[in-house]
Amino acid sequence: MVAEALALGAGRVLIVTDPGLSDTGLPADIGTALEAAGIAVAVHADVAGNPTTNDVAAARARADDDRSQAIIAIGGGSAIDTAKATAMLLANGGDYADYQWEGRPITSRSCPFIAVPTTAGTGSEVSKVAVISDPAQPFKKGVVSPLMFAHAAVIDPSVTIGLPPHLTAATGMDAFVHALEAYTGLGANPISDMLALEAMRLVVGNLHNATHDGSSMVARRAMMLGAICGGMAMDQAGLGLVHALSGGLCSQIHLHHGLANALLLPFVLRFNVPAIADDRRRTLNTLLGLPADAGGQDLVHAITSFVRSLGLPVGLADLRDDTAELDWDRAAEESMRMVMVRNNPRAVTVDDCRDLLAAMK
Ligand SMILES: [Fe+2]
Repeated sequence: MVAEALALGAGRVLIVTDPGLSDTGLPADIGTALEAAGIAVAVHADVAGNPTTNDVAAARARADDDRSQAIIAIGGGSAIDTAKATAMLLANGGDYADYQWEGRPITSRSCPFIAVPTTAGTGSEVSKVAVISDPAQPFKKGVVSPLMFAHAAVIDPSVTIGLPPHLTAATGMDAFVHALEAYTGLGANPISDMLALEAMRLVVGNLHNATHDGSSMVARRAMMLGAICGGMAMDQAGLGLVHALSGGLCSQIHLHHGLANALLLPFVLRFNVPAIADDRRRTLNTLLGLPADAGGQDLVHAITSFVRSLGLPVGLADLRDDTAELDWDRAAEESMRMVMVRNNPRAVTVDDCRDLLAAMK
């Protein structure tokens, strides 16, 4: 970490993190190490889950106040995406919404930005996208630019040891869905296939252990690598209907991104199976421990069993009691506006989205 910061020539850095992680002492420990190397450190520890443009504006203001020359994100996807957006704004100016909705082009490389992931799932540490909600708009819209990549990612699986089982499972399933949607999507290519298959192999082989035996460094290390491979596959090949529906759903209710994806996965996979090429379905069968020639429904059952084995809920009603207030039609329509719908292997209509969301009530 210190070596990466020194290599980037940053004399003043802003650590961007969230309150829960701040309580663990990790950001303070990293700050102390940086200060010992002569780097001035400020800490912004107010990032919320499912961050908004307000989170980005607050981090940007803090960076301006402290004349920060570099940003270090410590946390999961929320902290890393907020930091990624902040580093972009410091180099390009303006408000985040300008880039998100009005298409203002990103023309300058972000200011030096280091990502330190503390979950194994999001892949944001290796991706060129930041997903930030705008309270004035109904749904999330990612900003994508190769100028936004982190300058360095410091991967230390030991920092995930304390992650509780339900978060380990939910974030790990996010990594799996990144890989599966990249592998089955229309944008798949030979390189993204290699990354996606390795990501799914690592998740299937290690997420159960990482969830139920959180102190296993073997499982934690494998999951960290799986998340990175899944993130790079997603970055190259795009996502699909699970993430589109997840976006439509989470625009109305606060639901952990990985958990929403895990809930949606069995329903979407059942919908997509007829459109997945035979050779890819055979590869997925083998990866899940099924005979290569097993049918599509067997694959759906195997993945559903895997999700259940992690202790994750199997329906939205098991998880929340406010689903009666959801506007399902609006969720379906907003899902169709997500760009990843167009990368899904099977063509999707708004009625399909409505049916799939209804199935998980
Ligand atoms: Fe995701």
